[in-house]
Amino acid sequence: MGGAQFRVIIFAGMKSTTWGIIGPGKIANKFAIALTLVENAKLGAVASRDLSKAQAFASQHATPGAPIPRAYGSYEELVTDPEIDAIYIATPHGYHAEQAILCLQHGKAVLCEKPMALSGRQVGLMVDAARSHRTFLMEAMWTRFLPMIEKIDSIIAEGQIGALQYVRADFGFLAPFNPEGRLYNLRLGGGALLDIGVYPLFLALHLLGEPERIVATGHRAPTGSDDTCHAILEYPANGSATNPSTTGDSTTTPSAVVSCTLTCQTGITAEIAGTAGMIRIPTAWYKNDHFVLQRTGEEPQTIQLEPMVNGFEYQIREVMKCMEEGLIESPKMSLEFSLMLARTMDTIRVQLGVKYPTE
Ligand SMILES: NC(=O)c1ccc[n+]([C@@H]2O[C@H](COP(=O)([O-])OP(=O)(O)OC[C@H]3O[C@@H](n4cnc5c(N)ncnc54)[C@H](OP(=O)(O)O)[C@@H]3O)[C@@H](O)[C@H]2O)c1
Repeated sequence: MGGAQFRVIIFAGMKSTTWGIIGPGKIANKFAIALTLVENAKLGAVASRDLSKAQAFASQHATPGAPIPRAYGSYEELVTDPEIDAIYIATPHGYHAEQAILCLQHGKAVLCEKPMALSGRQVGLMVDAARSHRTFLMEAMWTRFLPMIEKIDSIIAEGQIGALQYVRADFGFLAPFNPEGRLYNLRLGGGALLDIGVYPLFLALHLLGEPERIVATGHRAPTGSDDTCHAILEYPANGSATNPSTTGDSTTTPSAVVSCTLTCQTGITAEIAGTAGMIRIPTAWYKNDHFVLQRTGEEPQTIQLEPMVNGFEYQIREVMKCMEEGLIESPKMSLEFSLMLARTMDTIRVQLGVKYPTE
């Protein structure tokens, strides 16, 4: 677990929340470590299709002096555990919708790994379930809650870089082709766009809102999933209906360029430019704790935020805060935002010719 450098983040007043995990794989491991950083959060149980795997994960993440988290050999057992308040879903995207709906039907709050699901239609079903069962649901877009993003938001809101005109971000790494693995297998939600393109797209939509027009191109792997995708997002002159405050000049048209690939390592950087300056987030932008602010005519200024420990602690805190306030969604990562993100990916996928078996 990395031991001594971890510290507990104190969030006074937060009620105790007992978490369950569905899918104890790679990212669930990081999540379980993050739980130890948030006061009043604890891992209560873990569920896998394979009981021995759940047992191994539970022992690995047992907290000294506390009971070992319960291990279940089915997801159904976890959702009926009365001691579990919230469930983190960490399976391949192709299963997110059915598993999230199962949790919501049993009154369990859900933090669902990104992307929320395969399509806007699936996300719509999840949102309907959250609303009809009055139960919390949030996409685990952890970048949204990092101090870096909060600081960039305030710099833009203060007008320090003028009216936003341009966002560019990329995310690429080399994932050797494996037709069965979750990155390439369409049944599991394979494709660069949904797995990593969702990050640059999140940044563009967070800052500029829903685009008016999208032009996308890319390349499909032999399985039919996209291994590379580039999309240009165009916005109307007065800003998008979902984010009118970011532009101020009716003669300019903001745009965004997002790229992702599984075929090579890319810079993983981002730029956010306005009429009075720009922000550069160096690699790896989606998990950074510093960025460079360059206002027109001034020297560049590096803005350093508190160093990140794990990164997931901020989203865990948000879920617990919202639950304590009786909310069924986060005002910061709303259900409407996840729907917009999924709709935008649908539009891009149509242009790429990528279709999932459930569509
Ligand atoms: N936020 C981030 O930084 C981040 C990073 C990586 C991934 N993710 C997201 O997290 C999710 C899981 O990614 P991962 O890399 O952690 O996945 P993984 O380790 O390959 O699998 C996680 C779990 O999913 C289930 N699973 C795996 N393959 C399956 C299959 N073929 N059929 C049915 N279930 C299967 C297994 O659950 P059982 O134990 O029950 O068999 C497994 O333990 C994805 O949606 C991904 O986008 C997020």
